[in-house]
Amino acid sequence: MSFPIHRPRRLRINTVIRSMVRETHLMPEDFIYPMFVTFGKGVRKKISTMPGCFQLSVDEAVKDAQYAYKLGIPAVILFGIPAHKNNKGTEAYNPNGVVQKAVRAIKDRVPGLAVITDVCLCEYMSHGHCGIVKNGEILNDPTLELLAKEALSHAKAGADMVAPSDMMDGRVTAIRSILDANGFDDIPIMSYSAKYASAFYSPFREAAESTPSFGDRRSYQMDPSNRREAIKEAALDIEEGADIVMVKPAMCYMDIISDIKDTFDVPVAAYNVSGEYSMVKAAAKLGWIDEKKVMMEILTSLKRAGADLILTYHAVDAVKEL
Ligand code: PBG
Repeated sequence: MSFPIHRPRRLRINTVIRSMVRETHLMPEDFIYPMFVTFGKGVRKKISTMPGCFQLSVDEAVKDAQYAYKLGIPAVILFGIPAHKNNKGTEAYNPNGVVQKAVRAIKDRVPGLAVITDVCLCEYMSHGHCGIVKNGEILNDPTLELLAKEALSHAKAGADMVAPSDMMDGRVTAIRSILDANGFDDIPIMSYSAKYASAFYSPFREAAESTPSFGDRRSYQMDPSNRREAIKEAALDIEEGADIVMVKPAMCYMDIISDIKDTFDVPVAAYNVSGEYSMVKAAAKLGWIDEKKVMMEILTSLKRAGADLILTYHAVDAVKEL
């Protein structure tokens, strides 16, 4: 049976009919808003490669968190830019580090907002890698202890969820164990499971001041050519106790989002990363695309592909369009 019996255009004839058969609807609850927190007071420093994003001191971060919450955004994820870096990343697990302070301040002033913390060492290490470095190599097992300490310090500060992004093997086990041993068995782990070694992170590295001083991240982040390996990574993380698995970046990796969604029964998050955001901003600035329409199309497509949660710098702008 085909034309003229079937005419798919019948269901596209006007706004009402289209709205009745629409399969994907974005909601404010879909979004997680990433924020960069830094030391100092009254700091609101523009990130040149990410228009609309800022490095914020804790007092300013509280204001933006309040604003996001008022718009209906349920959660933020915090990244820290510490005053000092060293080769042990000690600021990452300092109880009075920037992220720990920001978590306390936001939970105090905006208790209804879920505060998620990114658990990684690259922003805190003098060499900018996500683990301990020895003879030019990024060591896996010794790094786990530091990541676990960092996650615990975030939980102690009041974080609602922790999100390891380092791509060391076994970090979910390490974090789950330390949280459980300290009475934080109810704190979920959102694991960056399929995190690719992507060129789309470069604006973030300016924002977070975390560019590696030598080499790259290809010995720990995934090869963009690999699809089946993403399933393996997600399976391992779920076995280790991850409550939510993430795919990152998002736009070039919708096949991965879809595969993981079809394979597992845990919520899937997609990270619409800095480079994806910056490209939209840059093209819009040149007048080459309609920023709002392109933004909404991208975010809708991520949800259509299978994302239950979307981490995006567009979150605040996007909820205003709903
Ligand atoms: C830290 C981390 C990165 C991002 C999130 N967590 C950077 C990296 O791996 O180099 C990227 C986020 C973005 O580009 O928006 N490991």
